[in-house]
Amino acid sequence: MRVLGIESSCDETGAAIVEDGRYVLSNIVASQVEIHNRYGGVVPEVASRQQLSSIIPVIETAIEKASCSWQDIDAIGATYGPGLAGSLLVGLTVGKTLSLARNLPFLGVNHLEAHIYANWLRQGEISSSSAGASRESEEGDPTFPLICLIISGAHSELVLVRGHGQYELLGQTRDDAAGEAFDKVARILGLDYPGGPAIQQAAQRAEEEMRQQKKPVELARSAYRLPRAWLRGTYDFSFSGLKTAMLHLAEGAAGKQSSSQAYDGKSNAGGANKQQSQYTRMGMQAAQKGVPNVSLLAASFQEAIIDVLAVKTRLATQEYHVKQVVLAGGVAANLSLRARLEQELLPLRIRLSYPPIEFCTDNAAMIASAAYFHLAQGETSGLNLDVHPGLSLPFSGKRVVSSVKSE
Ligand code: KG4
Ligand code: ZN
Repeated sequence: MRVLGIESSCDETGAAIVEDGRYVLSNIVASQVEIHNRYGGVVPEVASRQQLSSIIPVIETAIEKASCSWQDIDAIGATYGPGLAGSLLVGLTVGKTLSLARNLPFLGVNHLEAHIYANWLRQGEISSSSAGASRESEEGDPTFPLICLIISGAHSELVLVRGHGQYELLGQTRDDAAGEAFDKVARILGLDYPGGPAIQQAAQRAEEEMRQQKKPVELARSAYRLPRAWLRGTYDFSFSGLKTAMLHLAEGAAGKQSSSQAYDGKSNAGGANKQQSQYTRMGMQAAQKGVPNVSLLAASFQEAIIDVLAVKTRLATQEYHVKQVVLAGGVAANLSLRARLEQELLPLRIRLSYPPIEFCTDNAAMIASAAYFHLAQGETSGLNLDVHPGLSLPFSGKRVVSSVKSE
């Protein structure tokens, strides 16, 4: 089954053609990063207008790149939440309209569930021996039950996945999401938006400097003592204390520095966004004064986030006796996080998998994949489906109360 996936939940416009939920024939993403970088974050009104101008060309390119015609497409899936209402509305409306015009089945997709299904994706054509079959599981797929760590710009959740569509919430963030913390701290340090890749790069610079000086890279990662909210006895996360600590460190560091240029980060060009929080304004002031040791601060911050994510994920895999952990969401693109989790899970013989970087951040291939697994069960959505900006994963039963003993 070939599904056209459409993604428009935030500041990326995506369209993809995926066969049998796994084989990516095309995956086109139009990013608005350049535009929002000016403001240090996504401006919803600008995002939805950009979605509108990109959506049709992006879909046309996805069909062309897959060497498909409309006759080769069997169904359409589009994100209906969570996300920004104005952005979601564009992709969902186009998806429903195309399904009506082309008489194709339609499925509204939960963006968070789609991030999980990014782990089912692989590049290229389906092999002729497996073509046409509608399978729940195939060689190379993740094996249930598994633990999924979903870490994106708006979510940080540890989820036990017992089978397709069977989700149990183990823990979630009590304040900022992991990606949000990366983005806010990047602003504090005067680094670019999105903050995750910018902080990763700055941290890599600090580690490289250590290597050149023949010192252990751990020195960069522990250059600044930063708090970790362990929230013992739960699998919940909290990153706001860490963010505040970074703000104070940056302000203190900037105060001591007379130069008006950041040590190795750019001065933040923002300031136009009137909705900036007090945090952002204070952070920007620190950045404009010039924060020294940006790369050491970035390395220490990244380590503090990774520490908590990796240890809690490992503890959950031990408690629930799963054989596999999968990562999902934009922060799963972080190379240091991947390496640290490999290290935590290897002695326990627990397999770690994560999607290739292009499928970690927002894309439409993952939307087509999630749509496939629902459509294959005979599910479809009505054309009266509306956007759900606050949608969560469809958790079964009550939240699992864990008996975790944190270290
Ligand atoms: O999943 P995603 O593309 O969009 C949402 O659904 O939110 O996640 C975006 C988030 C941003 O906060 C971005 O800073 C973060 O993912 N991110 C990273 C990296 N690449 C993207 N965070 C840490 N390290 C990265 N390499
Ligand atoms: Zn996302």
